[in-house]
Amino acid sequence: MLFGGTIQIRENGMIVVDALVKEYTGPKKQVTRAVDGVSFTAHQGEIFGLLGPNGAGKTTVLRILATILQPTSGTAIIDGSDIREDPLAVRRKIGFLTGAAGLYDRLTPIQNLMYFGRLHAMPEDLIKRRIDILVDKLDIGRYASRTCDKLSTGEKQRVAIARAMLHDPRVLYFDEPTSGLDVLAARTVMNFLRECRAEGRTILFSSHIMAEVEALCDRLTVIHRGVVTATGTIPDLRERTGATTLEQLFLRCIGEDHDSPMNIPHPKGIAK
Ligand SMILES: Nc1ncnc2c1ncn2[C@@H]1O[C@H](COP(=O)(O)OP(=O)(O)OP(=O)(O)O)[C@@H](O)[C@H]1O
Ligand SMILES: [Mg+2]
Repeated sequence: MLFGGTIQIRENGMIVVDALVKEYTGPKKQVTRAVDGVSFTAHQGEIFGLLGPNGAGKTTVLRILATILQPTSGTAIIDGSDIREDPLAVRRKIGFLTGAAGLYDRLTPIQNLMYFGRLHAMPEDLIKRRIDILVDKLDIGRYASRTCDKLSTGEKQRVAIARAMLHDPRVLYFDEPTSGLDVLAARTVMNFLRECRAEGRTILFSSHIMAEVEALCDRLTVIHRGVVTATGTIPDLRERTGATTLEQLFLRCIGEDHDSPMNIPHPKGIAK
């Protein structure tokens, strides 16, 4: 266990997303519907994939679920708390790793972690204990006292993961956590996520790489142009699409396998 203790079982879904819609209004009042009625449920202790090509709406969904963005309509319940009605409770329960590391360049990893621990109003001795555990787990020790502007992409990513985990959240959102990492660093991140799952945490993992999702996720939702096109396990999706390779599976799930007679029409072809 990372921090000891057990996570209470929640039976009805840890992340319940219900008909989320997000429209962005541009400078000329043009409306882009980035998320168009997305629903899915992730259960406790599951790594749930959010798979989609660039621009599919993955980051937008995660930002809404993290209460950083307001949905245009629809809602989600995270570990029993509604993102619209109780955003503060949701923030306490989640850890969010997103593209921009957002670490303070002039602080060291330890100073960054201390700072974010205080923002969470954690007692000092608890912050220090958690930092010790995470620095060890994520192998941050070698550069823990160097300022963050002098860290590599992969080193910063590990510090950002430690920051997302510091307050011991039951629910984790990881937005393309392996992007820019070499195979070794990517493997460390993936093994870390498996460990989090073994502890009963629920993880939402976004990616555009089918192989990564296959290696890690118990179930997944595929989204394309803001719409859910498929939900299930990889074997479910293989069976429904008849795809033989992962690339074909991905293309068929998003309705873009134009060379195939089995092409499934976009966008709601195999949604379930
Ligand atoms: N602030 C914004 N204003 C207007 N449009 C936006 C804004 N943020 C995102 N979009 C648009 O919404 C759509 C979904 O974007 P989003 O970042 O959620 O996609 P994504 O699946 O995370 O893509 P990627 O794999 O490239 O990270 C895109 O068409 C994007 O251009
Ligand atoms: Mg994104």
